[in-house]
Amino acid sequence: MFDSFFKLQKIMMPQNTITKSFPVSRNVEKLQASSTLKAAQVAGDLRERGFDVIDLSVGEPDFQTPEFIKEFAWEGLQRGLTKYTPTSGLKTFQESIAEFYAEEFGASFSPKEVIATCGGKQALFNAACTLLNPGDKVLIPKPYWVTFPEIVNFVGAKNVFIETEETDFILTAEQVKNSITPKTKLLILNSPNNPTGRVIPPEEMRRIIEVCAEKEVYVLTDECYLFFVYPPAEVFTSASLPADLRKYICVAGSFSKTYAMTGWRIGYTIANEEWSRAMSKLQSHSTSHPTSFVQYACACAMQDNTKSKGAVNSMRAEYEKRRAWLIPSLQKIEGLKCSNPEGAFYALVDVRGFLNAKLKTSAGIADLFLKEAHVVVTDGAGFGADGFLRISYATDLENLKKGVAKIKNLLQATKTKTAI
Ligand SMILES: Cc1ncc(COP(=O)(O)O)c(C=O)c1O
Repeated sequence: MFDSFFKLQKIMMPQNTITKSFPVSRNVEKLQASSTLKAAQVAGDLRERGFDVIDLSVGEPDFQTPEFIKEFAWEGLQRGLTKYTPTSGLKTFQESIAEFYAEEFGASFSPKEVIATCGGKQALFNAACTLLNPGDKVLIPKPYWVTFPEIVNFVGAKNVFIETEETDFILTAEQVKNSITPKTKLLILNSPNNPTGRVIPPEEMRRIIEVCAEKEVYVLTDECYLFFVYPPAEVFTSASLPADLRKYICVAGSFSKTYAMTGWRIGYTIANEEWSRAMSKLQSHSTSHPTSFVQYACACAMQDNTKSKGAVNSMRAEYEKRRAWLIPSLQKIEGLKCSNPEGAFYALVDVRGFLNAKLKTSAGIADLFLKEAHVVVTDGAGFGADGFLRISYATDLENLKKGVAKIKNLLQATKTKTAI
């Protein structure tokens, strides 16, 4: 039955090459389909076919958007916010972001340096497309979020990956310094990181940006998991750096994870006015702006610091509880390695100790989990981390416990078989 499922899956899944008869553009043809969305689709397809799936591939919060934000959206609708807004966003949206960052992080930037975008993804695309030219080199630490190298491919620039395994997946200023060449135009960062969950300490982050600024290399920093950092790790936004460093930085922010608003499609950029004007120009020819009453709801949420903090804190406490159970449980599985993630809601586990003549890749192990136990995890290869699997804890503790028990049994059986 599973063989036929896998055949069906091949037909249903988005493939890298679209039908031969459609002359897909070279820019799009070279893009890889998103491996995280593939895993989600496999889980969905299996569920639809009646299987009891344990989905540990989830890339979005398993919480509902807080009620007070839904009410603000409704209020926006009732106030008639159903028309176009300025491309850069409602003034109240831009001001609320600037005020929130000032209050929360002591950051000092003008509302004109904020642009409302349709999610963090558009923020990243806007930033990269307005800076990069074909042939420019872009530094990306490994493991990376799947979309980063694809944006670079799309604009015809060149990815230069920085290996970080020897520093336990935490990028250092030294590694950045050693990777910069005269052709380097941009560094793309993500901390807290998807897929590792690692967080670059504030002092190191500052040093990284200083190294880049010294060489006039821009930094696109994806801070979409900013509010999910677990003590003693410290939250740090590059938006709080002084203006002489900030002129090289574009912060890509998102409401998706922070307030469990993935479907609302809203994010923002914080960048100097010139860069922001360029991004606004580009956005004026694509999506124009994110949904008007959604901008309004987010602006109100940012202004209501007590409620928004309360919502974030309760989600963070729940993730922390899951993490406290998950990481030691994974670390107890003989042969499996996993560093302690300080942020986001992922653990990246090293399964290289289980590879053998039959199970040659981590993708093979992910397939084994799927076929034998209906447990869905994301293969690390799409993140530039072949030999690793990403396990998401954006799912309840009961599900996690069931999934990890199954994973443990399968991995132990693999070891036993190899020993025989
Ligand atoms: C690291 C990272 N950046 C950006 C995004 C995009 O988020 P959105 O476009 O929903 O804001 C995601 C989503 O999974 C992510 O993991």
